[in-house]
Amino acid sequence: MNTTWWKEGIVYQIYPRSYKDTTGNGLGDLDGIIEKLDYIQSLGVTMLWICPVYQSPNDDNGYDISDYRKISSDFGGDPAFDRLLAAMKKRGLKLIMDLVVNHSSDEHYWFQEAKKSKDNPYHDYYIWQGNDPQQLPNNWQSVFNGSVWQWNAATEEYYLHLYTQKQPDLNWENPQVRQEVYGIVDYWLNKGVDGFRMDVISLISKRSSFSDVPATMPFIDVMEKVYANGPRVHEFLKEMHEEVLSKHDIVTVGEGPGVNLEHGPRYVSDKEKELNMVFHFDHLTIDFGPEGKYDPVPMDFIRFKAIFRQWDQALAKDGWNSIFLGNHDFSRIVSRFGNDKEHRRTSAKLLATVLMTLRGTPYVYQGDEIGMTNVAHKSIELYDDVETRNAWKAAEAAGKDMEEFLKAVHWQSRDNARTPMQWSAADNAGFTSGKPWIPVNDNYRAINVEAAENDPNSILHYYRALIAFRKAHPTLIYGNFEDLLPSHPQLYAYKRWDQGATFLVVHNFGDQPVDWEDLPEGRQCRFGNYSQQAANSLAPWESRIYQLD
Ligand code: NOJ
Repeated sequence: MNTTWWKEGIVYQIYPRSYKDTTGNGLGDLDGIIEKLDYIQSLGVTMLWICPVYQSPNDDNGYDISDYRKISSDFGGDPAFDRLLAAMKKRGLKLIMDLVVNHSSDEHYWFQEAKKSKDNPYHDYYIWQGNDPQQLPNNWQSVFNGSVWQWNAATEEYYLHLYTQKQPDLNWENPQVRQEVYGIVDYWLNKGVDGFRMDVISLISKRSSFSDVPATMPFIDVMEKVYANGPRVHEFLKEMHEEVLSKHDIVTVGEGPGVNLEHGPRYVSDKEKELNMVFHFDHLTIDFGPEGKYDPVPMDFIRFKAIFRQWDQALAKDGWNSIFLGNHDFSRIVSRFGNDKEHRRTSAKLLATVLMTLRGTPYVYQGDEIGMTNVAHKSIELYDDVETRNAWKAAEAAGKDMEEFLKAVHWQSRDNARTPMQWSAADNAGFTSGKPWIPVNDNYRAINVEAAENDPNSILHYYRALIAFRKAHPTLIYGNFEDLLPSHPQLYAYKRWDQGATFLVVHNFGDQPVDWEDLPEGRQCRFGNYSQQAANSLAPWESRIYQLD
């Protein structure tokens, strides 16, 4: 197993528009991140991934980029970026940028040109099909609802957008497009960034037959079998590695919708020279029902454990996992995998313990370190997210029971993770002196950083101590992994070991205590989220880390 800094480090993910506003315009900005660097560093994290901050019309909050070399003035523009990077370098913190190159914004100069005429030099930068405004090229559905095809009158054809109409997909078959991307990557690397999280990178190579998908195929399968892992994706990634990435000591993590156990190892194999890590979504789509995320089904805990076990096995010898339970696209982890009511504090600590003790690089999403929870707005009007809103419209059009649908929105909306960071009990949670771009979660008076700092038993202090514990024990980073109770309905117990040490980690994922006879007698429990521990039983949401050797 090769050792390296990005395996040993811990990533903190920032959604900049919701982190800290220094100007009073209600939007977080890069100076806000600078202001919080002491706090960030105090967590013990070593890398920051910041969601897109480039110039964008913000149809999808920055995942629609209109200038890849410019930082949006919303976030403080290029000077603020340079300040942030310099401040981070001084502290030895690494910066991971979001690279969104499956699609651009329709307001990007390339698309503005491309749509003018078929002989425009940029026309072939995008993907065009069909010639009849009454006849869609195929039945593909966008991730954000509706057809993936949008008619362009000037050229009398459709362009492809797997996300919103304002996010036309780039044509990676065109070598010039690939050179443009490598130029962008090079630009940021030369500025000194330390890596990239590559947005939906599994989708860049299209199956250009564009055949219809079977009408009954669940969307999750369409993603895996039709949109993702296309015929040239590995070739493109190898080319990018060869041309630009390999020249720098950086980290790359590819967002991989549709990346499964069959394809995953190829993306991250040391030998293949493509990416360092991927984010697969097997565990985050675990509660999607037959009709997708807004048709949720109960979580299958045994499957949840199996997913981590299988991915660990798949990458045990070659490759590396990313360990994450949420991000800006999913609900809050304590609400989804823990119990955000009577066991919020304990279950948030348990989830932290999971993140820090599995084999792979852990990713902590902003606010999870204080146990921020989902929101439950009474009306769809209070939701901002384009995906949530489009899903709502589609459900209305399909005649769904909208009261039930609102419950699904409460459970699954991406806005759950996008409410402003809760810094204090002051107005707007201390996030802004103006009107926040999205409502603050009402519980901010109780759940906030300031309160957590003042409480020795807080989730925040637990994160700090746990991160320090992980960093002090390389076994927890590189050591072997074995799931000891794969079919237990409530306990998650595993061993991590190498020549240096052996740890037993055990978690009770439930509201009821569970007896377990195999808790090691007379062994030292090195870390846990309860101050008193029973000999043969685990309390609700209890986590323990024992050192056996
Ligand atoms: C994944 C991003 O994380 C998400 O926020 C975005 O909407 C889509 N990719 C499209 O870029």
